[in-house]
Amino acid sequence: MSTKVLVLNGPNLNMLGVREPTMYGHASLADVEAACKARGTTLGVEVDFRQSNDEGELVDWILAARGTYAALVINAAAYTHTSIAILDALLAVELPVVEIHVSHIMKREAFRRHSYVAEAADGMITGFGVYGYELAVDAAAHLLKTPAKP
Ligand code: DQA
Repeated sequence: MSTKVLVLNGPNLNMLGVREPTMYGHASLADVEAACKARGTTLGVEVDFRQSNDEGELVDWILAARGTYAALVINAAAYTHTSIAILDALLAVELPVVEIHVSHIMKREAFRRHSYVAEAADGMITGFGVYGYELAVDAAAHLLKTPAKP
């Protein structure tokens, strides 16, 4: 069985470290990628890491993950709160899904408190800063060994 985990990042996360640092911190997306890969090595899973500002490209990557990846980690960023297309792709691909957010979306504006991604995700990690990505890779590796309860 594949032990590859695909970490997907949505719009504006290429600006991590520069964008609203009081909200999202000072680490860059390249720093986060390195941390995820290091965590994957420790856990014995291979981590691929991608970012796009394009909703359709994210949908294409999710659908193409079937057969290649064993689990998905996704920070869909603003598309979390708007994208039925990403939700449908996550439902279609039938892989374990871990949702992650750098900020604590439940403590922010009302429009951020609803997540379409959550409807397809096995669980959500939110509010632990970029460290949440390592927790998410950890959770994905755990789901590969112990599938989540329905
Ligand atoms: C985010 C939270 C979203 O509401 C926001 O649109 C983002 C980043 C987070 O990681 O905290 O772009 O997903």
